[in-house]
Amino acid sequence: MARFDGRVALVTGAASGIGAATARRLAREGARVALVDLDRDAALRIAQEIGGAARGFACDVASSGAVADVVRAVEAALGAVDVLANVAGVGDPGGMPIERIDDALWERVLAVNLAGPFFFCRALLPGMAERRRGAVVNVSSLAGRTKSALGGLAYTASKSGLLGLTRHLAFDFGPKGVRVNAICPGAVDTPMIRGAAKAGAAQGEAIAAQRAKHSAALQALMPIPRISTPDEQAAAIAFLASDDASYVNGVALDVNGGLFMA
Ligand code: NAI
Repeated sequence: MARFDGRVALVTGAASGIGAATARRLAREGARVALVDLDRDAALRIAQEIGGAARGFACDVASSGAVADVVRAVEAALGAVDVLANVAGVGDPGGMPIERIDDALWERVLAVNLAGPFFFCRALLPGMAERRRGAVVNVSSLAGRTKSALGGLAYTASKSGLLGLTRHLAFDFGPKGVRVNAICPGAVDTPMIRGAAKAGAAQGEAIAAQRAKHSAALQALMPIPRISTPDEQAAAIAFLASDDASYVNGVALDVNGGLFMA
């Protein structure tokens, strides 16, 4: 019997990187998966590759109306959601001084990385509680545990906030049979991290040089001397979402190879 047989999983950010790896992993383990992403075409394409009951859906997680609509569409297509993986996220350019962070950048990063998971939890947790069955995994970051290594201030604030959301909901919903946890990846080989390197370089020479210095220092401190694969993050998400983690609630699981230990 596979761990997610008979379960419906909704994965945001499922068109790329960690989200795509998570959708594939949960489907392989028996889940009927809804792949939700801003990038509709890629979500549909990956759902088709997965096959079976997997379905792709377009949604901007930063829009509360769009989240309510997509939750209705997912439940109509696949049934009540048992597993929610909030993976969608955006980075911001590292090394940017606070006075250069404009309102639009601050608001967008907080909206996608923090309000998005809040909107999905608000839409889905009450139903999970009624059925006394559900698990949520929020993808925070090393940035949420300390500070962003190479990203920016808004990213750190959003990922720290996401851990607060996780703990508060774990307390509120634990008694109702629903667990809420988070993973905190270190660097993962995805388009996000490749894009961040380019965005850092575009900030000008001084910031790019500082970034390169930080990056070298970080690499020297990695006990496992490489960045992670998306599959390694998906494995941790699948563990927390499964009954193997039936007594794990409210944790921030570091999946960073020991770069940050606490
Ligand atoms: P990625 O860029 O490969 O994938 C992110 C996905 O989220 C994309 O498919 C994108 O279209 C989607 N997305 C972005 N904004 C969205 C929105 N408003 N609504 C719906 N979908 C949206 O990135 P990656 O690396 O797979 O990141 C996944 C999560 O992991 C993010 O929350 C990120 O902050 C976190 N993370 C990533 C790390 C890394 O080194 N790659 C390290 C720590 C955390």
